Amino acid sequence: MKALATLVLFVLVFQSGASLQAGAAKKLEIFSWWTAGGEADGLNAMFGIYKKRFPGVEIINATVAGGAGTNAKAVLKTRMQGGDPPDSFQVHGGAELVDTWVKPGLLEPVSTVYKGEGWTNVMPKDLVDMISSQGEQYAVPVNVHRGNVMWYNRKIFDDNKLKPPATWDEFFKVADALKAKGIAALALGDKNKWEAAHLFEDILLATIGVDGYRGLWTGKTEWNGDGVTRALDAYAKILAHVNTDHAAGTWDSASQMLIDRRAAMNIMGDWAAGYFTSKGWKPATDYGYAPAPGTIGVFVVVTDTFGLPKKVPHREEALNWLRVAGSKEGQEAFNPLKGSICARTDCDSKKFDIYLQSSAKDFARDKLVPSEVHGSAAPEGFATAFNDIVNLFVTNKDVKAAQKALQKACVDNKMCK
Ligand code: GAL
Repeated sequence: MKALATLVLFVLVFQSGASLQAGAAKKLEIFSWWTAGGEADGLNAMFGIYKKRFPGVEIINATVAGGAGTNAKAVLKTRMQGGDPPDSFQVHGGAELVDTWVKPGLLEPVSTVYKGEGWTNVMPKDLVDMISSQGEQYAVPVNVHRGNVMWYNRKIFDDNKLKPPATWDEFFKVADALKAKGIAALALGDKNKWEAAHLFEDILLATIGVDGYRGLWTGKTEWNGDGVTRALDAYAKILAHVNTDHAAGTWDSASQMLIDRRAAMNIMGDWAAGYFTSKGWKPATDYGYAPAPGTIGVFVVVTDTFGLPKKVPHREEALNWLRVAGSKEGQEAFNPLKGSICARTDCDSKKFDIYLQSSAKDFARDKLVPSEVHGSAAPEGFATAFNDIVNLFVTNKDVKAAQKALQKACVDNKMCK
């Protein structure tokens, strides 16, 4: 009897120990800044696919609010430097991935997962190049966002018999007509700095063109040249048409202004489409979209990717996360809600709304350029300086001072001499 009781006790202890151990091992911590409408829904949908494929793994959703990683990037740096990496984290393809994380040796290559999953056959070379360094792949792109989109409230345009502007000259005409009716032309919420920089990036592109814009990141286009002067002059004029309370708002509050009819237009990446979708606002009837003025035929690429830090606590679970993030099923669940197109080329277009279908077409035929504000074009030191300089400019409109500071940031970050 005593022996039986001991055996039962042993079995119970063994079982609970085993399940405790399994419980402790089966976790997955994913770090991102996706907390707003649309982006948070997309992430949850991808978690849903993971849970279906790998039941029993507890997912820790480690998010730090603040669009474009305003706050998240600093938290991530502290964790990585302190030897406390999340199992996988959101990072933009290009300079942000390669210079910040790959070159200092903080990420594992994931090339074998690429081979195993056949991803190089279903992802465009331009994207694969953005996550590669010295022949190895270091992250999995989950999406392609377009940075240079102008969103507008269809009803405001219809009621006032206006056509969405294709150039900044047309924009000023439309803005004046709207002003006469007491309607703010352009919604902006630049509390986190990058939003104003995002708008300026699109104005730069429109002013100096694709080659000029590309040259900014290779030292070919001078920051203290005439093109940048003209872009800053244009920006100062455009700022006269944004809402006066812009410094208190964020990217999503600016999107909300369109829904609330508090402004007619907004220039933002297409995560704004994800936000509209999360609010039940539809592309066919409620909002219109067009390339940011002066940027037709050009697609500013913003791509979110996930990498594998070295020495993560749950490596197997993290590898499986990458497999889900790169899968057709994962990307088809994530992107329609996120407001982005798949990084893969084989997603079912019927799962996407008309805006995203049009974005996929443009991505395939437009000239592609990397976003600086969203990490791809330049090292992080420059991106931070750019945000600061543009924000100061929004307040003081001092073209000379801004240009001098941009040139200095270019030299400081070894992008030009
Ligand atoms: C971008 C990111 C997008 C979106 C946006 C606003 O940097 O690539 O996925 O989240 O910030 O948070």
